[in-house]
Amino acid sequence: MVKRLTPIKSLNGTIKVPGDKSISHRAVMFGSIAEGTTSINGFLTGEDCLSTISCFQKLGVAIKQENEHVIVEGKGIKGLQPPSSDLDVGNSGTTIRLMLGILANTPFTSVLTGDDSIAKRPMNRVTQPLKQMGARIEGRDSGNKVPLQIEGGTAKGIHYHSPIASAQVKSAILLAGLEGEGTTSVTEPVKSRDHTERMLEAFGANIKNDGLTVSLNGGQQLKGTHIEVPGDISSAAFFLVAGAIIPDSLITLKKVGLNPTRTGILDVLQDMGAQITYQDVNEESSEPYGDLVIHTSRLKGTIIKGNLIPRLIDEIPIIALAATQAEGQTIIQDAQELRVKETDRIETVVNQLKKMGADIQATEDGMIIHGKTPLKGANVDSYGDHRIGMMLSVASCIAEGDTFLSNSEAVAVSYPAFFDQLNAITKNN
Ligand code: S3P
Repeated sequence: MVKRLTPIKSLNGTIKVPGDKSISHRAVMFGSIAEGTTSINGFLTGEDCLSTISCFQKLGVAIKQENEHVIVEGKGIKGLQPPSSDLDVGNSGTTIRLMLGILANTPFTSVLTGDDSIAKRPMNRVTQPLKQMGARIEGRDSGNKVPLQIEGGTAKGIHYHSPIASAQVKSAILLAGLEGEGTTSVTEPVKSRDHTERMLEAFGANIKNDGLTVSLNGGQQLKGTHIEVPGDISSAAFFLVAGAIIPDSLITLKKVGLNPTRTGILDVLQDMGAQITYQDVNEESSEPYGDLVIHTSRLKGTIIKGNLIPRLIDEIPIIALAATQAEGQTIIQDAQELRVKETDRIETVVNQLKKMGADIQATEDGMIIHGKTPLKGANVDSYGDHRIGMMLSVASCIAEGDTFLSNSEAVAVSYPAFFDQLNAITKNN
């Protein structure tokens, strides 16, 4: 669908951003392999998380979803049943990679498929270690691409040194190890988001964290629990940047997840000069959260690299837009993982923002942006990537003239209410 987007004067109001995508996926998955009932509040009803629900329903788990409330009737991993048709993960990398870890312990064959974007994304980062743990996996490109066929059994523990900082890789291996034999550990080059570790503990598992290494013993049975999902900081990011770059704006974002492995965007925006204040922060909960208030701010360029990258990997498209409105140069490096996201996000960000007049260059592992440049309306495309669609929509707010966004429906992958919420706080007089 092509959506016409018009410039706006300011944003003013309060937004309850949707539930965290990473946490919503995990709540359904862990609830499905736990014994007993799991109730979830604040679940993200985006397409990706609905794909996770439908995959586990196909594996025989009773899951009832009503808006943001979900009830999962877990019967333990041995209660999963052979699916009668392919498990379609849609656009969701988290669904396929974590599910492969779980299926490494099921003694039946499953076939996993996904959309055109998933078909291009590398799966050997999880299939290789899972094969070492004993799973039999076949697929296109020697088990690197969907459709993938997996037959599990009892996974054998491994000590895995991951070449990349990836929570999906770490989680897949830990999930395989949890129900397997012996000890499993994963060591990462840089710490990635730790939602799996936190939530496994909430489900009663014993996990050991030691610097960049996480380990657990096999043969642990999860117990159903209640999960409160905080708002997704990756969704809040679009309004944080919108609030900073759109004149005369003031936005309050309610109950945003503030897990330190995810808050790189706040560090970077503050370093660039954004005025962000925190309110009602709850640090006690297994996943910390709080309200964020953002004002229109004068931004300056910055350097984003190294350990910071995994803490804001999904926010780089919207940070790139912020950099076009910042004085001076912004350099983003060490972010080669962007090339294997829903699209090659280095290419799509650079190509689409260039069409709107930005001074932005791609590098092998990031981008270089010079600001501040006025943006102009253009014909742009999300290429089916939700985060590119939302970044371009925020860009259209400050552009001169109308913007026409192709494949705008992609935003529903993680933020179905995005356009409604943006319209609700738009002030044009
Ligand atoms: C996610 C991990 C990240 C992130 C993705 C969600 C997760 O991917 O980009 O949107 O929920 O574990 P990688 O593990 O590939 O870095």
